[in-house]
Formats: sequence, C-alpha cells, structure tokens
Amino acid sequence: MSNFSQPGNIFISCYKRLSPYLAEELRELGYEPENITSTGVAIQGTLTDCMLLNMKLRTASQVFYEISRFEAEDPEGMYDAAYQVAWEDWLFSDGYVSISSFVQHPSINNPMYANTKLKDAVVDRLRAKSGRRPDTGPLLNKAVVYLFWTETEGILYLDTSGETLAKHGYRLYPGKAPMLESLAAATILASRWDRESPFINPMCGSGTLAIEAALIATGRRPGLLRRNYAFMHIKGYDKAAYMEAVLDLEDEVKEVPGLYIHASDHNREAIRLATLNAEKAGVDHYIKLDQFDFRRTKLPQPGAAGVVFINPEYGERLGELDDLVVMYKAIGDFLKQQCTGYIGYVFTGNLDLAKKIGLATKKKTEFFNGRIDSRLMEFELYSGTIHEKKKVTEVSADPDAGEADSGFPLLSEDED
Ligand SMILES: C[S@@+](CC[C@H](N)C(=O)[O-])C[C@H]1O[C@@H](n2cnc3c(N)ncnc32)[C@H](O)[C@@H]1O
Repeated sequence: MSNFSQPGNIFISCYKRLSPYLAEELRELGYEPENITSTGVAIQGTLTDCMLLNMKLRTASQVFYEISRFEAEDPEGMYDAAYQVAWEDWLFSDGYVSISSFVQHPSINNPMYANTKLKDAVVDRLRAKSGRRPDTGPLLNKAVVYLFWTETEGILYLDTSGETLAKHGYRLYPGKAPMLESLAAATILASRWDRESPFINPMCGSGTLAIEAALIATGRRPGLLRRNYAFMHIKGYDKAAYMEAVLDLEDEVKEVPGLYIHASDHNREAIRLATLNAEKAGVDHYIKLDQFDFRRTKLPQPGAAGVVFINPEYGERLGELDDLVVMYKAIGDFLKQQCTGYIGYVFTGNLDLAKKIGLATKKKTEFFNGRIDSRLMEFELYSGTIHEKKKVTEVSADPDAGEADSGFPLLSEDED
C-alpha cells in the first residue's frame, strides 16, 4: 500500500516562463525550491503535499510524485525497468490507468510507442500480481502514470493532477482569445498590485484577469472549484484528509470589503460570459462589469498601487493590424490622459504593436501566451509633470526610461 506520508521528489510543471511565479507560490506555502527550470520546479515532499499543492497552486500545470529512476537504452530496457516497479502498491488492478509522457530519447521515434510500452509494463505487472488488469485509455480523470525520458534521464512519476491545473474551473465560457488562467494569475503576481487598491481591467473579454485578481485578493484557491484529481485514484488516498483540506481552503477565504475590481468590454457577449464566469468563480460580488469602449472607463482614486491592466487583441488570432495600430495608440493616450496616478499594465503578444503605445515602459516581463512570445509591460503613470515626480508608488522610476516635458516618459516608436 502506498504511503501518503513518505517523503520523495516532487516536480511541479508549469507553462514556459511561469516557473519564477510558481517558485514564489511554493515559497509562500513553505516549500523550498531545489531546482527551477523553464517549465517547472523541483521540491521535496509527500503525496499529502502533492494533494495540497494540487488544490492551492495558481500557476502550476501538473504535480508529479517520483516513483523511480531508470537507465535504459531502448524501449525494451524501459519496459524492464518499469516492470520492476511495485505498481500494485500504488494502483488498483481493477481501476483505470492512463499513461502520459515527455520523451526525447534516441531510441524512440514515436512517443506513443513509449507510452504503449510503459502501459504494457504497468498492466503486465499488475496482472502478474493480482490476476486482474486495469482498464487503460487516454482519459486523465483517474490514475495517471507519467514517463519523463531523455537521453540522460529516465524517471517514472505518478501524475497526481491528471487534468491540467492551468485551468481553474470557473471558465465554462472562454469567449474569444482568452488568457489561460494560470498565465493570467502569473501576470497578476508579476505586477505590483497590492491586492487592496483598485484593479481596473478594460477589454476584459471573458473576465479572466479580473476574476483571477478577485481570487488572489480574497485567498480563494483553485481547489475550491475542483472535485476530482488523479491523486484520489491512488492507493492510500485518504478522503477524510482531503475533506479537511477543503475546509482549510474555505477557512482561508477572506472577504475584502471595499475591494474595487472593474472589468469592461465593448462586446456584449464578452460581458455576458464574464458575468457567468465570475459567478461560477464565486467572486461576482467583487467585480463591477460594464459594457462600453475602454475610453469611457472612469477610475476611482488609485490608492497606493491602483492598477489598470489591459490585454488587447494583438493580431495573431483576432483583429486587423491597421486597426490595432490605432487601438494601441489610443491605449497609450488613455493611460496617459485618464489613468494618472495608476500603474498601467499591457499584456500583448505583438511587440511591434506594443511600441505604438508610445510610453516608456518601466519594466517588461517575458511570457508566452500559448506559443506566442508575449510581454507584460509596466507603465508608471505619474501625476503632475515629470519634474515634480509626484509618484504614486514608492518604487523609483527607471532613470533610463526616457523622460519628456509632457509629464510622461515618452518613447519613440523605434525604441524597444
Ligand atoms: C484579447 S481579448 C481579452 C481576453 C481576456 N484577457 C480573457 O482572458 O478573456 C481583447 C478584448 O478586447 C475587447 N475590445 C476590443 N476593442 C475594444 C474597445 N475599443 N473597447 C473595449 N473593449 C474592446 C474585445 O471585445 C476582446 O474581448
């Protein structure tokens, strides 16, 4: 029988460029990252830790618990190594098992072949030990075994998540060109928003950024919206411990009276979907939703770290480039003229269009949106002239940011 208290190696995967935020989340939860790669973070912990991490992490994709390491020259060698594992301690022979993998090994042309070989090893072992074989297939809603196999390393894991954690369970209606929930959460964690000051989200689409902001500010974890994980289908899973963990998540929720989150979009359908998504996430009472053009946004007094956060279309999936050039210039004007005292953020996957905003960026943070190289651009929107430097935050402006007498650091279109 597996032991949920047995310490071991855990690897938590995430989308590319999210690992710094994942590592920070882990530190806040009391785990010390041992290794941070571009797509994940390694820590030490137990299967009980895996359970809690699945329920708590906002920027993760999968939580893997290491079962064994192997060296193999070819698929037969991998089969032999996998057959040695006491799968009967972890998996139910009358259950359902799925195999997934990351394989980059010279002996393998088709990763599906490696999956099939591993599935055979797991099934053959269980049948030899119990006389029964589990069902197998592609569904990720039961037990999942994960193979990581490169030229230098072979590792067998239990994937304790199954379905990805990158989706947070509230977006039943994605709308057009939505941000992935884990990415939206990471961009907010990358921002200087203090989780109390106003969070203004024009062009909100399906509402992902506004909803993630509300979830973060009120301590609502993704586990509140999900009731099935792969760890629930591993031997030794303790349902009572899980139920206790759910109660702990509920206790962590704090109401934040006065929290002002405003999301708007000119598209009626987007507002309808954002309303439904916010309701599903349980944060609709925090989000004021309006259907109008972003230039009609009225901002309250900013507070210490009031944020205007915009994810405009950027031509890869939606919109025409010429129109977008006009729109990005208008976003620059909007930030400059109507958002004084706020910290502005624009998340975009079109770096040429980003230059049309015409304001110097205080900071640019690299992300990927799917496969699209993207940036989160931060603009410090001073009140008063640059000479007065009446700034809204205590963070000093980048002295190289390019200042101008207009009261705003202006950037020529050729500058990056
Ligand atoms: C890339 S999508 C935002 C996606 C959003 N972050 C999400 O996760 O669903 C851009 C949104 O901007 C909206 N939009 C475009 N032009 C606008 C304008 N002038 N005023 C307000 N909204 C606008 C579109 O309707 C679209 O929903």
